[in-house]
Amino acid sequence: MKLSRMTALLAMTVAMPAMATELEVTHWWTSGGEAAAVAELAKAFDASGDKWIDGAIAGGGGTARPIMISRITGGDPMGATQFNHGQQALELVEAGLMLDLTDVAEANNWKEIVYPPSLLDACTVDGKIYCAPVNIHSPEWLWLNNKIYEDLGIPVPTNWNEFVATAPKVREAGKIPLALGNQPWQSNLAFGAMQIAVAGLDAWKAVNVDKNMDVAAGPEYAAVFQAAADARELARGSNVQDWNQATAMVINGDAAGQIMGDWAQGEFQVAEKVAGKDYTCLPGLGLNQYISTGGDAFYFPKLDDPEKEAAQKRLAALLVSPEVQVAFNLKKGSLPIRGDIDMAAANDCMKKGLEILAGGNIVPSGDMVWSPDVQKLNEDLMVEFWKSDMSPEDAHAKWVENLKSGL
Ligand code: BGC
Repeated sequence: MKLSRMTALLAMTVAMPAMATELEVTHWWTSGGEAAAVAELAKAFDASGDKWIDGAIAGGGGTARPIMISRITGGDPMGATQFNHGQQALELVEAGLMLDLTDVAEANNWKEIVYPPSLLDACTVDGKIYCAPVNIHSPEWLWLNNKIYEDLGIPVPTNWNEFVATAPKVREAGKIPLALGNQPWQSNLAFGAMQIAVAGLDAWKAVNVDKNMDVAAGPEYAAVFQAAADARELARGSNVQDWNQATAMVINGDAAGQIMGDWAQGEFQVAEKVAGKDYTCLPGLGLNQYISTGGDAFYFPKLDDPEKEAAQKRLAALLVSPEVQVAFNLKKGSLPIRGDIDMAAANDCMKKGLEILAGGNIVPSGDMVWSPDVQKLNEDLMVEFWKSDMSPEDAHAKWVENLKSGL
């Protein structure tokens, strides 16, 4: 009798470790592919003996970030939160509101394993590390529905120029050439993708890294605005809001293509579409195959609770671990932040991304090179441009002013 009670007690202890600490984790991953990916993080955290309390915020990053920031500054911090690595959390770090993860980073050799090093640099303020990078997400991809082109009897475009040239045929067939959602960041993302594709890497670096405003105002960028004006025509009639609704238009064959980050891949995957067969992905819009190494990172607000702080550090270490990196990124469509893991299961599109990364053809993300204020000004400008008949010349001039305000 006594023995069986002891056995029962022991079983309970194993099933429910006394250590389990709950952490609320906020993020803006609410599409089908995103939800599948974040479930991998929750599963791993729970399996490690702690408890992930999911704090998904719908409406995309533009909606979620102000909510996250006001909770942290307003005294209602969560246990962990997503931000894009770059400058989005810089003011929170500078205000002393975020947990220093340097000891976790050192204990787990992040400096040696995280690739490219710019990811960890983006987490570092005054020599201390404040975030755990979880992936590399590049926004400069064109996603195409192969069947639309097969039905039209024309080859699937291999780059942006071919896409534009074949768009009238797509339109004649009653399809929308370019799907674009109405959230402000989406038109800004499309414009960002055109920058490297059309202006080329040298001009891109001159403007975004060296902040050369003459190049910004010059002919290479005039060509980018012209391409954006073309794209605006191709997107007419695309009346959806969320990015994944626009991706669904491509998946369902209502639209031929979408300029979107590689997170679109998660949606194709959930819809059981096969890369290379059902759809085509063109990094750098098929013109200049560079990817920018932005992406997602988790930050941990200070909680003044030693037990929670220990759990925060356990979660930070777990997010960077090889097992979680593989499981999460395969579902998310993003690239891992470490090169020492087996990504053999990656599909064709991810393999393209991995090759570009291995070749070192990478640039920093917009969030790394421009402040949130400049990003916001450009988002507003792009919304106005895409939704009106603003001339490319006027938009160009306004854009240069926006950049100058951030110097
Ligand atoms: C994030 C991605 C996310 C996408 C759309 C980006 O800012 O980096 O992880 O899938 O927004 O929600």
